[in-house]
Parts: sequence; structure tokens; C-alpha cells
Amino acid sequence: MGSSAVSGLLVLLLVSVSYGLDNGLAGTPPMGWMAWERFRCNTDCIDDLQNCISEALFRDMADRLSEDGWRELGYEYLIIDDCWMLDQRDKEGRLQPDPSRFPGGIAKLARYVHDRGLKLGIYADMGSHTCMGFPGTPLHKIQIDAQTFASWGVDYLKFDGCYSNPVEQMLGYPMMSAALNDTGRPMVYSCSWPAYLGGLPPNVNYSLLGEICHLWRNYDDIEDSWDSVQDIIQWFSDNQDDLQPAAGPGRWNDPDMLIIGNFGLSVDQARSQMALWAVMASPLIMSNDLRNLDPNMRAILQNKVAISINQDPMGVQGRRLLQKKSGIDVYWRPLSSSCSALVFLSRRTDMPYLYHTYLSKLNYEAGSYQVYDVFSGSTRTGLNSTSKFSVSINPSGVVMWYVSPEEPSSQTRSDPAPHRELDSEFRLHKSSIGRLTVL
Ligand code: GLA
Repeated sequence: MGSSAVSGLLVLLLVSVSYGLDNGLAGTPPMGWMAWERFRCNTDCIDDLQNCISEALFRDMADRLSEDGWRELGYEYLIIDDCWMLDQRDKEGRLQPDPSRFPGGIAKLARYVHDRGLKLGIYADMGSHTCMGFPGTPLHKIQIDAQTFASWGVDYLKFDGCYSNPVEQMLGYPMMSAALNDTGRPMVYSCSWPAYLGGLPPNVNYSLLGEICHLWRNYDDIEDSWDSVQDIIQWFSDNQDDLQPAAGPGRWNDPDMLIIGNFGLSVDQARSQMALWAVMASPLIMSNDLRNLDPNMRAILQNKVAISINQDPMGVQGRRLLQKKSGIDVYWRPLSSSCSALVFLSRRTDMPYLYHTYLSKLNYEAGSYQVYDVFSGSTRTGLNSTSKFSVSINPSGVVMWYVSPEEPSSQTRSDPAPHRELDSEFRLHKSSIGRLTVL
């Protein structure tokens, strides 16, 4: 590339960045539902009408999100992934949905979704084609595609990166951010850019991403298996020094969808995914069949305390504190009002493991704490930071704690609003001590 071309590109990039996305959205990690992991690119609406990528599928999921208690818990974005398009643009150069599967068009679907108090997300790809070969959004189409999405009433864009090169990505991701801003319609912007660059500095510039995107995929696609979930947890934890500081209100790392409720995870493994996504301040975007969910899996996804930890307004991503030879890892996330979350994760494959420790060993200040076990619902008060305790952690499972400091004056302290929900849960469970043992 000649030097004038390079400087032209740089000017374009700077212009784009200076008009980057800052629309106040995604102050906490986005929550919702996305088609990809569960429904993939199933376009067979003849033999598999119930499960093909079509407006009927999204209407079904909108009904479930709004009628089964999901929306009230925060699961508000309903996101179309790949394979919604016709294989060519219309006469005006706009992307268009496949009319045989989306006969009403996207604008009508957006109205359906909005009428139910939800928001609609859509998928496009910063390259010649989407990953499944549908029309892409190369640089010269960014403007028109942003405008089309806004005109349809879209609220969220997942911008993938198949069939593009790093130079195009460096230009295209900031350009789309600016183009979305220019539409005047507030949209959440999810960038797959880092996942195409290996996910780590120096190839990935997380400060720039934080300015132009609300969330970003860092790593490989999730699959319906514990191996996949474990691999993702491992990669994010091994690289937490680079990733953890990048996250905060309006800018989130995205380890991909929650697969809870599908075929690959046991109840313990599903709790592990929920717990880790909560402490990692990850978007809680399910990909499952909401029409047909096992009650245990629904309870995990609808666990109010896990969600409240994930959605903590301070927005600090948690970290792995310890990785023990015994196969136990300990994670910690600071929360507002001097509270915190602890997760004890077992990588073991034999039997429940009794892990002994004390809070001061996990960086807690001297004092007394109240502990709420997020999945068993048991509560323990008066846990001194220097008292030994043990937790029994199932193989590939977790114990997750919400920890709050206990002050002698706590009787008179008025609790801040974000934790009212939690406090009522505590009251519900205050009598039981459960599997927490103070030694
Ligand atoms: C990529 C993305 C996935 C999904 C598919 C669709 O693999 O990472 O999340 O969007 O493309 O083709």
C-alpha cells in the first residue's frame, strides 16, 4: 500500500474514532437471547418449521421472554444471528431478509418485539460474506447497512468478521461505530473484531475497543459441551491480566452465549457456567429453546442473586484468585456496597471435594461477614475472616457465594437500592445454614 493510501486510511480511522459510539447503553452487561448456538443456520422451514431461522422462531422466543418472567429479570435483547438474509441485496443496495422465512420483514418483527417490551438485535459481517456465506458488509456498505438497521428499528448489532482482513477490520469496526451513531438511533454494538486477531494485545487494542464497541467477542465460538465451556473459562482466566481491565460499564468482554438448557451440560456444569459468567461480568445471552426448558436449567438462568452479581452497577470484572493443584479454582468479584462474590470451581472429575480455607486467605479484610450461597439458598452470618470454613464442591461444579460485611451497626444501616432484591432473598433463607461448615 502506498504512503498516501496509508495516511488516507489513518485519517478515515481518526475521523471514525472521534465520532465513536457513546450512547450510554450497556451500562451493565447486556442480557437476552440469541439464535446461533442452539439453532445455527437451519434454513429448512419445510421439514423443520419449528426450528428453522424464521420470523416465527423469533416471535416464539419473544413470547417466551415476555411471558415467562425473563424480561423482568433483565433478559431483554432478542438477537437474530447469521442466515436471516436473502443471498443478494435489493435494487437500492440494501440487505434484505429472505422473504420465504421472514415474510413480514424485519421492521414488522421489531414492532412485535418492541410491543412486548423487548429489544431486537441483528447480525451482519464486516467482510465480503457472513460466516455462513450470506452477503457481507464491506467498507462501502457500512453506511447503508447502519441506516437500514436503524430504519427497521433495530436496537443491537452483532458485527462479525469472517471474510475480512486485519486492515479492513481496523477501518470497518470504527466506521460502523460512527455510522451507527450517525443514525441517531441508540444501538448496542457488539464487535467480533478481537476474536479474529487472537484476542490479545498487542494485536488487539482494548482501549480503542472500549471507545467504539459496547461488547466484543474475544475468543472461539462456544459449543454445546462442558469441554467448550471449560476451555473458554480457562482462556479468559489465563489471560485475565489483559482482559479484566478492559471491562467496565459500557464495555464488556464477551465469552459467548449461555448454553444452559441445551444438551451438553449437567446441572452442576450449568451452575458453573452461570457462576463464571456472573463473576466475569459477561453478557448473559442465552442460546437455548425457551419453549422447552428443563425446570432446573430455568431456575439457574433465572437465579436472581447470580443475575444481580452479574449486573452489579460498579461493573468490575472478577478475577481468578487461586488455581490449586487439587483442581479447585477460586474466583472473586468486588461488588458495590463493599460486597463481593466468590466462586469455588472444581475441575476435578472424581467426587465432591471438601475445600478448606478462610476469608483472610482470599484477600478479605479483618472482620465478620455474612455469606449467601447463591445456588443452595443457605445463609451464614458471623463468619470471621480468620475462621476456617469448608465448602463441598461437586466435580465440574461450583459453590458461589455472595459475601457482605457485617457491621455492629448493620441493624440501623439503610441498604442501598440495588440490593433490595438480594436482601429479600436473604430474609427468605436466613434460617438455613446448609452445607457451609465453620470449623
Ligand atoms: C461466527 C460467530 C458465531 C456466529 C457464526 C454465524 O462463527 O463467532 O457467533 O455468529 O459466525 O455464522
